[in-house]
Amino acid sequence: MKRKLAAGNWKMNGSRAALAEFDAMQPGVTDSVEMVICPPATLVATAVEKAGALGIGGQTCHVKASGAHTGDISAAMLKDAGASYVITGHSERRTDHGESNADVAAQSTAAWEAGLVAIICVGETLEERESGATLNVIAEQLAGSIPDAATAANTVVAYEPVWAIGTGKVPTLEQIAEVHDDMRAKLSDRFGTEIADGMRLLYGGSVKAGNAAEIFAVPNVDGALVGGASLKAADFLPIAETLGAA
Ligand code: PGA
Repeated sequence: MKRKLAAGNWKMNGSRAALAEFDAMQPGVTDSVEMVICPPATLVATAVEKAGALGIGGQTCHVKASGAHTGDISAAMLKDAGASYVITGHSERRTDHGESNADVAAQSTAAWEAGLVAIICVGETLEERESGATLNVIAEQLAGSIPDAATAANTVVAYEPVWAIGTGKVPTLEQIAEVHDDMRAKLSDRFGTEIADGMRLLYGGSVKAGNAAEIFAVPNVDGALVGGASLKAADFLPIAETLGAA
């Protein structure tokens, strides 16, 4: 049985004081549900100390383990700080930092080499959705962003429509099902059924306690990548509990 995953992406939010939220998140972690918080890099080491049953992850990593790359953080450094996960290819990184599929693949390989699980993100823009290109865009991102050495243990895939992130807009359940079914099929074609079935596929984009139950009931949705609603235990815990009940 694969454990479901509620992953929180704090983005450029949070402070040491905010880590106090972790205490009230603890009950969400069960035999069937894993919870991970990805705070800003400055907080990773302290977050690990306060994590309890939560897993801690970074939000991106450099492709190299060390070197002359001012301002960057390597996967090895995240690992050294106690992280077990790292998000790669979030749309805000793709947009703000021009990261390509090839960059995301190299980061994911770096993550694995450091012993981290990569949460590899894909998602279409509104323009791509409206022009009917969604499945092609996702297929291209999956092909380009996930390296050949992916396994169910080292990789989580997050489908995050760019237009649903932080907007309060959510695709229809049929749209989520269509993409998740297609992702599972594409992963199966490439990696075989055993790896593809074991790989957790998260939905992300405006997930809240109020819409979590219907999203988690969609086939091939194994959890969520949550932004805004992961900052407070009062919002994130009900999402994890809903996942446990799904
Ligand atoms: P959101 O962000 O839940 O605030 O929409 C999701 C994400 O970017 O991972």
